[in-house]
Amino acid sequence: MQFTNLDKHVQREAQRRRTFAIISHPDAGKTTLTEKLLLYGGQIEVAGAVRGRKTQRSATSDWMELEKQRGISVSSTVLTFEYNGFCINLLDTPGHHDFSEDTYRTLMAADCAVMVVDLAKGIEPQTRKLFDVCAMRKIPVLTFVNKVDRPGRDPLTLLSEIESLLKIEPVPMNWPLDAGLGFRGLVDLRDLSADVFEQSSGDVRALYNTHDLSQLQEVGFEAQTVQLVQEEVALLASAGSTFEKDRFLKGEITPLFFGSALRNYGLEHFLKGFLEFSPPPVDRLSHLGPVPAHRSEFSGFIFKIQANLDPRHRDRIAFLRVCSGRFQREMEVVHARTGTKLRLKRAQLVFGRERETVEEAFPGDIVGLANPGIFHLGDTLCEGEVVHFEPLPQFPPEHFAVLRCADTGRRKQFERGLEQLIEEGAIQIFSDPRKSQRESILAAVGELQFDVVRYRLESEYMTKTTIEWLPFKFARWVFPGEAENTDRPALQIPYTGRLVKDGFGGTAVLLNTQWDCVHFVRNNPQYHVSNVRTMHVEYLQRQEPTAAKEISA
Ligand code: G4P
Repeated sequence: MQFTNLDKHVQREAQRRRTFAIISHPDAGKTTLTEKLLLYGGQIEVAGAVRGRKTQRSATSDWMELEKQRGISVSSTVLTFEYNGFCINLLDTPGHHDFSEDTYRTLMAADCAVMVVDLAKGIEPQTRKLFDVCAMRKIPVLTFVNKVDRPGRDPLTLLSEIESLLKIEPVPMNWPLDAGLGFRGLVDLRDLSADVFEQSSGDVRALYNTHDLSQLQEVGFEAQTVQLVQEEVALLASAGSTFEKDRFLKGEITPLFFGSALRNYGLEHFLKGFLEFSPPPVDRLSHLGPVPAHRSEFSGFIFKIQANLDPRHRDRIAFLRVCSGRFQREMEVVHARTGTKLRLKRAQLVFGRERETVEEAFPGDIVGLANPGIFHLGDTLCEGEVVHFEPLPQFPPEHFAVLRCADTGRRKQFERGLEQLIEEGAIQIFSDPRKSQRESILAAVGELQFDVVRYRLESEYMTKTTIEWLPFKFARWVFPGEAENTDRPALQIPYTGRLVKDGFGGTAVLLNTQWDCVHFVRNNPQYHVSNVRTMHVEYLQRQEPTAAKEISA
């Protein structure tokens, strides 16, 4: 399928969009970098607005009470700022490894990622895990080596660590002039000029003067430091790793920038490099083939659903990533999964807790849509010929438990809350069809997800819960769905396993050990068994959408 219809205005706007997410281990400096990017983008006047609040355990993008209490970031938000004529959308990813599923979905909406690495700590476990997610999606990754102002490891050692652990070739674009407390400059490895920073507290943009490498002693650098940096630069030149856009876009190399987000050293250099290298909105895969951003008809998909973003309003927001065309308020679109027509009335830009009505948006932009329960994760909205974007994957859960409503008088609220959290993708649900009393088995990739669900049920739906952990460690989906209604032989399930229905009515089996999984596949050759349930598999089987009633969303 070819989408050839071009719209010049959309094309221009799409070309200046950059949509990315930051991946890092907690404490590497993601919040600080985010804040400083906002400072450089003119969104905040003086640094400290975000960090200052984070000291009280609350940052612009950290809005959930639980996050504040625990100092973790579990919910993604979108921050938008302009820089040098570019419109930059930064998707905030949860830092905790238990929320990798949420991160994965966020990365589905990003066109590239920035990996923040602490120079002293190198590649930490969470960075590695998130990097693997990027590699799986083959999205280009830029690297910002942070905290160069602190005693850290040798930058050359870090390069080899990145290469050996992440299997990606780092291509340094600049090199620190003296690391640790003496760090105050960067050598541009392309033209070999040296930018020397003026003292900076980090509250405002860092100023710098450009010198020739040979002049550094004249501006106060010790002969030894200058010699070392000259040797390192020569070594890097002889190693011959150069930036090649093709390889970057394929995820084979990562351009690497050094700096200190705290002091604003290297921020401008990083931003310039980011804008030079990061791709504008890329083609998105659909069941009709790749949909280019400059296709004139609008299309987008829902990658995140969040309820009660603002406790005063008790609203539900579905976050839409615009993939092609122009989004306009009040526009009429087709909801591809159901085939219904919708008028998108209440569309907002969401900045932390703050809202702004959005009149129009372009490819790469993220729009918050009021969701009266019609949008599911992975849903496509479009104009013109109906497309279905590639489905969002659902990670295989590793923790299972039964959650019960502690107060029978609040059962209704419990069910409503749970339904909402499942819709958001915060947790997966299974039920045992043979049990007379309907009991929900909740499942998640990480244990902390259960804490979030229980906390939210209590704070948003006033429902206390009790939890009973189950011994299962694996879920395996069995296709086609209604296995017991067909002529196929009944499923052979190990006696410790359990046959269940997932939240979409699909059949699955919960198992205790890897060994059980292997046996289960072997003993049921007539069934297709999968450890991943792609969301809304059912829509791929749909034919043409039916013209249907209009709903205002
Ligand atoms: P995160 O979002 O990745 O978890 O990290 P965050 O930005 O919160 O930074 C973690 C700690 O590292 C913070 O210190 C922050 O000030 C510090 N930091 C970030 N970037 C740099 C840098 O370039 N240089 C130095 N020296 N420190 C940096 P904290 O003491 O934990 O918090 P706070 O008291 O400053 O709020």
